[in-house]
Amino acid sequence: MKVDVLLGLQWGDEGKGKVVDVLTPHYDVVARFQGGPNAGHTLEFEGKKYVLRSIPSGIFQHGQTNVIGNGVVLDPVLFREEAEALESNGIPLKKILKISKKVHLILPTHRLLDAANERAKGGAKIGTTGKGIGPTYTDKISRNGLRLGDTSLNFEERYAQVRDRHMAMLAALGEHPDITDLENRWKEAIEYIKGYDLVDSEHLINGYLREGKRILCEGAQGTLLDIDFGSYPFVTSSNTICAGACTGLGVAPNKIGEVYGIFKAYCTRVGSGPFPTELHDETGRRIRDLGHEYGAVTGRERRCGWIDLVALKYSIMLNGVTQLIMMKSDVLDDFDEIKACVAYKIDGAEVSEFPYSIDEGAVEPVYVTLPGWKTNMTGISDEKEFPEAFTDYIAFLERELETPITIVSVGPDRAQTIVRNGFRH
Ligand code: GDP
Ligand code: IMO
Ligand code: MG
Repeated sequence: MKVDVLLGLQWGDEGKGKVVDVLTPHYDVVARFQGGPNAGHTLEFEGKKYVLRSIPSGIFQHGQTNVIGNGVVLDPVLFREEAEALESNGIPLKKILKISKKVHLILPTHRLLDAANERAKGGAKIGTTGKGIGPTYTDKISRNGLRLGDTSLNFEERYAQVRDRHMAMLAALGEHPDITDLENRWKEAIEYIKGYDLVDSEHLINGYLREGKRILCEGAQGTLLDIDFGSYPFVTSSNTICAGACTGLGVAPNKIGEVYGIFKAYCTRVGSGPFPTELHDETGRRIRDLGHEYGAVTGRERRCGWIDLVALKYSIMLNGVTQLIMMKSDVLDDFDEIKACVAYKIDGAEVSEFPYSIDEGAVEPVYVTLPGWKTNMTGISDEKEFPEAFTDYIAFLERELETPITIVSVGPDRAQTIVRNGFRH
């Protein structure tokens, strides 16, 4: 067996949570492989709405096993909040969720450092989610981190060492916070997590594969936020691309099967950093309003713009996408015309390969204009009902991107999902 991977092709918030939930019935296991509570994955069904941050989006269907893999960074306090809310909604989380002992722990001081680093950067700030993601991955890579599996061995002493180092770093930035309360809640939350099945997830996942179980890996963030290939330094601190599923779960590259690449029919970004197709006008505001483009966790306004096919092709290449999933096309239902960026103009020449820099002023998007479909698509359940202009739009994207679009989402609810002929899992 192989694992299938679902990941975002833009700057995050493409709708990963919704589609993982929709696809979960086809799988036995759903696993997160990177990121942490910087993610906010929204699911809607039966009139209810959930936002998941650290917990995989496969918990609401038929009792599938969910795994938080070693590549994830976990904040015990936020995890506990999220888990207790789900448990009180009747989700038997302790039975269905397994957590890798190798996940790195987000300490209270990691969050404080994240905020202090941002303050120190001033106008050049990344616009992080403030969840301590960067400092935690920094400690992991510099071999100073604490893992969940370390909580049984001289933990107090090791924790105190890391905390003291962080306090010295904060002091160097002129900050001297009192962390007593934060620390107490954090330690209580660690005890709470010990009630879960803490596992060697690489053995577990490979064992599942040997048993013939079907596994879906759930990405967080998006390809353009990848630490290596995103718009550095305005990125997150993990590999969000498909290769991250290998390192974040211990799955060998030849065990990757389908790669579902998910994108919005337009484009959004939250936080700082370049965004060539961003719209600063009425159209951008219209997309934000119609698409309710506000952060699922932070509530921040998302910047909105036209779809960028240069960037999407890059993302498809990096991930080896086999099937595309298009989200939120319903947001454009009322538009007379829709634009798609098909190339960048750089120093007067048209370029279709994603360049080293997409900084403002370095690239100018080249658009084609397509007719809108002017049809309310939110109640459509079969591709045969698509208006002609929408079918043409899909065909245009498939031609440009050289990859089939096998799922189309026309609303936030689980039911508002159209699986097209050709979908494979
Ligand atoms: P994720 O981080 O990739 O899981 O995406 P988010 O949950 O952060 O953002 C996606 C938002 O769009 C959520 O509010 C979803 O409920 C909503 N959504 C998902 N698919 C659709 C869709 O097809 N149409 C509309 N209108 N909203 C959608
Ligand atoms: P999901 O999984 C959108 C962005 C932040 C910031 C940058 C770095 O819901 O798609 P970080 O806190 O990771 O150090 O912030 O990355 N960012 C996201 N943007 N969706 C996300 O997750 C994001 N996670 C991080 O806004 O620009
Ligand atoms: Mg999100």
